[in-house]
Amino acid sequence: MWPFIVAFCCIALSSVVVVSRRRLALDHHDDRRRAMLPFKKDAEYYLRKGVRVTEKFFFNSRGIEQFTKEWVPANGEASAVVCYCHGYGDQCNYFFDATAVELAQAGYAVVGVDYEGHGQSQGLHCYIPKFSVIVEDTREYFQSVRARPEFAGKPGFLYGESMGGAVAINVSRAEQGKWDGMILVAPMCKIADKIRPPWIIQELLRRTAFLVPTLPIVPAEDIAENAFKLPEKRAEGKANPTAFLHKPRLGTAVQLLLVSEDIEKHLDEVTTPFLLMHGAADLVTDPEVSKALYERSSSKDKTFKLYEGMWHALTEGEPSENVAIVMRDIITWLSERSGKKAANLSTTGSEVSDTESAVIDSI
Ligand SMILES: *[C@@H]1O[C@H](CO)[C@@H](O)[C@H](O)[C@H]1NC(C)=O
Ligand SMILES: *[C@@H]1O[C@H](CO)[C@@H](O)[C@H](O)[C@H]1NC(C)=O
Repeated sequence: MWPFIVAFCCIALSSVVVVSRRRLALDHHDDRRRAMLPFKKDAEYYLRKGVRVTEKFFFNSRGIEQFTKEWVPANGEASAVVCYCHGYGDQCNYFFDATAVELAQAGYAVVGVDYEGHGQSQGLHCYIPKFSVIVEDTREYFQSVRARPEFAGKPGFLYGESMGGAVAINVSRAEQGKWDGMILVAPMCKIADKIRPPWIIQELLRRTAFLVPTLPIVPAEDIAENAFKLPEKRAEGKANPTAFLHKPRLGTAVQLLLVSEDIEKHLDEVTTPFLLMHGAADLVTDPEVSKALYERSSSKDKTFKLYEGMWHALTEGEPSENVAIVMRDIITWLSERSGKKAANLSTTGSEVSDTESAVIDSI
């Protein structure tokens, strides 16, 4: 073991020198906020779509300034609140914007928040010193939203994508019985073997990450390459103005390993109703673990949709006809659980799985 640790430390130290010479481009949140300016859409754009948006910065109870965005139907009351947890290296305001607009058009209030170090929130870019802290921040924001008079008594749903699935699951574990359901899109309950570092590297990581936790050198496959099926959407993914185009930081990688192991060990603690969706050809998060979540969770109302041939980014990386199928499934599931009559869907003829004996759909 020791020769490995010594070799690892040497590599780490030499990288410190290289990286500190060339500060990572978007490390500071001001740089990321500037990078987002050209992507800002005006209120007119949203109103034409029948949606009203609010973008806000606020200081959380730890004194970290976070970016939040809300999408609500411009006319009429929202039937429920959908609280979005974004993925690793992502934000609530790039790809998710189109999804949120569609959900707001279907009558839902949607809120999202950028985690510390992500998107336009404060913090070193894509550095997660402790996963439970971003879970607590997220809980704090969602609680403040759901306590507002306009949302009082409305059903609340979590919507977690990839690493955000782990955030959503942990929010629901900490707030048993408080949520009416959660939508888990390719959740990270275990990192797929393909992008998981080899065992020996994982062991080294766990033992040495505390030395240089922010160093972005963890050997990992390119997530964008493996997440988006269509090349043009892959390019769009890489063009995400606040994407982290480096290897994961040591401390972040260790946190992701720990939280996914914890969730995998405690799948039975999931009691919230859920709609679980995974591409069968996902190379980033393992659909097998979703199957285990479906089987071992204690939720009474659970639905698992396995989409044959689809990759990790179900609503971002697929051909538009596949995205439409996924969105239709989400909106149908929500409408059946938010006490409102079926949403006015553009696609007709959809039939969802029975909630008592959910089936694994293949398309
Ligand atoms: C996840 O939730 C469980 C149960 O509330 C808790 O024990 C664990 O520490 C949490 N982990 C993280 C990383 O938030
Ligand atoms: C659904 O929406 C379309 C246009 O958005 C409208 O023409 C149609 O009448 C609506 N249908 C129902 C049943 O509300």
